Amino acid sequence: MNTADNFIKSKLDDRRTAGNYRTLKAGAGLIDFCSNDYLGFARSAKLAAKVAVEILDCPLPLNGSTGSRLISGNLNYTEELEQQIAAFHQSEAGLLFNSGYDANVGLFSSIPQKGDTIIHDELIHASIIDGARLSHANRYTFRHNDPDSLEAKLKQAKGICYVVIESVYSMDGDSPPITALLKLTEQYGAHLIVDEAHAVGLYPAGLVATMGLADKIFARIVTFGKALGCHGAIVLGSNKLREYLINFARSFIYTTAAPLHQLAAVKMAYGLLSESKESIAALKFNINLFKQGLDVNQNQPLIASDSAIQCILLNSNDKARELSASLQQQGLDVRAILSPTVAKGAERIRICLHAYNTYEHIEKLTYVINTFGHAK
Ligand SMILES: Cc1ncc(COP(=O)(O)O)c(C=O)c1O
Repeated sequence: MNTADNFIKSKLDDRRTAGNYRTLKAGAGLIDFCSNDYLGFARSAKLAAKVAVEILDCPLPLNGSTGSRLISGNLNYTEELEQQIAAFHQSEAGLLFNSGYDANVGLFSSIPQKGDTIIHDELIHASIIDGARLSHANRYTFRHNDPDSLEAKLKQAKGICYVVIESVYSMDGDSPPITALLKLTEQYGAHLIVDEAHAVGLYPAGLVATMGLADKIFARIVTFGKALGCHGAIVLGSNKLREYLINFARSFIYTTAAPLHQLAAVKMAYGLLSESKESIAALKFNINLFKQGLDVNQNQPLIASDSAIQCILLNSNDKARELSASLQQQGLDVRAILSPTVAKGAERIRICLHAYNTYEHIEKLTYVINTFGHAK
């Protein structure tokens, strides 16, 4: 074996020994309690049919966009879609990216400069950390959802300061005290950036717009791969921010633009979201049903969350794996989230609820969780 092969083998062996070796598995047809398809858009025949009609007689290149947005891949359709989505979220402008990962890497690598400061919640998504690392700015974390901890870091900030939060956290499902964090951010002359990946859906235009704070936020990130059931993302903000990103965000500039069928899917998904009162009500109903069905149990507490993401702490990789295996044996697709993905002691099962989960499935889910460990 050469040195590179040796290196790869030893890293993989380390992973196996630590019990967190990752493998890909195709869906096993279990009942979905783990996907981000909160409203069922990804599997909606109605949405697929609308997309087919939208692109059927379109004179534009259908299969591929033919180039980057700055060369041959830009369409009036793309720019109109950006304006429509920005208006939907009460934003002046927006710029599409090929994924939420690309959007965050592009935004955070290009806006903060050497000498500036990024302060983010300790549970912030990896795509924001990766972007921030590329930026050469100073980077601090503050304790999860803790305004005092944020203030301590704001006092140390140098240059232009950006505070970054998620409106619904992807691994915990909880929401930050946005008003308090915004107030502090403003008090210290910093700029708040909010990733709304998991909020859009339950809150159609996102939590920030629902709270009437859209014009107070420097930038928002909305991804289309979760409740919208598609793929891609948009950075929302001012016209100036959009122009800046077109000029400096490398994950926007140096990549082939999304194909028309992807844009059409996003456009139709926004149309569907506007008519989705019933699905959103069904999702809320299912979230409450799940929470009401759980026995309060100090050994496996539920993280406080009003969102579609509900987590039960089990405090060890083994227990988290054991409970997710029991649920899967019962046909329920629930995944364990292990350390080091989450901190040691915060290992958990993460349940994603959907508008399309049935009463019986949720009853079965809570039953298996409530009786876990009783037979021992
Ligand atoms: C909070 C958050 N931001 C960004 C992303 C990345 O979005 P995408 O899956 O579109 O790359 C995710 C998805 O995992 C996320 O949870």
